[in-house]
Amino acid sequence: MTKYPPGLRKSVNPRLKTKGNTLENPSSLLLRLLLSASPYYVSGSVLADRLKMSRVGVWARISKLRKDGLLIEASQNRGYRLSAEPSKYNRPLMEAWIHQVQAKCKIFVHDTIDSTNSEVERLLANGEAGPFAVISNQQSNGRGRLGRKWYSPTSGNIHISVGFRPNVNLIKLRTFTLWQGVCIAELLRSFSANKSISLKWPNDLVVNEKKIAGMLTEASINSEEVRTLIFGIGINLNSSSKHFPKSLSDNSTSLKDLTGHKQRTHELSAQLIKTILSSYKQCADNNNKELFVKWGKLDALSQRNIEVSNGKEIIKGKAVGIDNDGSLKIKSRNGRIRLVQSGEVSVCKW
Ligand code: BTN
Repeated sequence: MTKYPPGLRKSVNPRLKTKGNTLENPSSLLLRLLLSASPYYVSGSVLADRLKMSRVGVWARISKLRKDGLLIEASQNRGYRLSAEPSKYNRPLMEAWIHQVQAKCKIFVHDTIDSTNSEVERLLANGEAGPFAVISNQQSNGRGRLGRKWYSPTSGNIHISVGFRPNVNLIKLRTFTLWQGVCIAELLRSFSANKSISLKWPNDLVVNEKKIAGMLTEASINSEEVRTLIFGIGINLNSSSKHFPKSLSDNSTSLKDLTGHKQRTHELSAQLIKTILSSYKQCADNNNKELFVKWGKLDALSQRNIEVSNGKEIIKGKAVGIDNDGSLKIKSRNGRIRLVQSGEVSVCKW
C-alpha cells in the first residue's frame, strides 16, 4: 500500500471534462474524478451524476475497487477520496493516471509475463498500432543487454516497454536510448529529490556506481528505415537491494533505498510513459545540441578512467563525453580520441 496526500475537510466538484469519453471504463473514470479532486473529497451524488449511474451503482464500483486493494475513504458529509493504492498494478487506476498526466497511449497491464519487450514485439507483429505500452508486475524471463537476464521480482519494481512504428531513417534515431536516459534520469531526480541519479553510457541509470535502472532498445530495420522500435526499462522502485540475489545486491540500489520511503507506482509509471513518448519526439526532432548539454550534466563517467570491452578488444582511457552519433568518446594516454559504439564499460580505480 502506498499512501496519497492526507485528505482535506472539503468536498469539491472536479473540474474535469467527462463528456465524450463513452469508451472509458467507468471504474477508470471514477478514479480519474477522485484523482483530480485529491486531496479533497467528491460526493456520491456528484460521482453518480458524472458517471451517469445510480448512487448504488457508484457504491458497487467502489466496493469492487476496494476488493482489488485500493483504499477509498468514505466520509458521511463529504463523500469519497482515494487514500492509498496497492503495490501491484490496478488496471483502472493505471488508466486513470494515464489520463491524469495526459499521456496519449494505449496500455496493456499484466500481473506476470515473460518479458514486456517480448510482448511488445508480439503485439507489433500482430499489427498493433504504435505507440502503446506494456507493463507488468513481474517478468519470468526479463531480458537485459548482451543476452543477460533482468531480475524482475513479484512486485515492487517497474517493468515497462513501449512499442513505436517510426518508419524514419535510422540516422534520426541513433541517439534514441541516450535521449530516453536523460529524460528519465531527470524524471527520477524530480520524484526522489535526489541529484545523484546519473547516467552510465549507454543504458544504465546509476547512483554512486550502483545500478537503479536499465534500458533495452530493440529495433527492426529495413533498408535503413526503422520499422519497429521497442524501448524497455526496468526500475528498482519499491524493492530493497538488500533482498536482491547476492550477485546483484552489492552493485544495485532502488528509489526506496535512496529516499527511505515507497513511491506511488501508478503515478510514476504514467509519468514515465509520458516521458518515453516525449523523448522519442525530441530525438526524432533531432536536437542533439540539447542532448549533449543535458548528458554532460548527468554523465557518471565524465573524466573517469574506464575500460570498455566490446568483445574484440579492451579499450582503456578517460571518458570525455559522447559524439554526435551517440558513441562514447575515450581519450587515450597519447591524447587520441577513440569512438566506441557499443560495449561494456567498467570504471577503473587507477
Ligand atoms: C540492462 O541493463 O541490461 C537492460 C535491462 C532492461 C530491462 C527491462 S525490464 C522491462 C523490459 N523487458 C525486458 O525483458 N527487459 C526490459
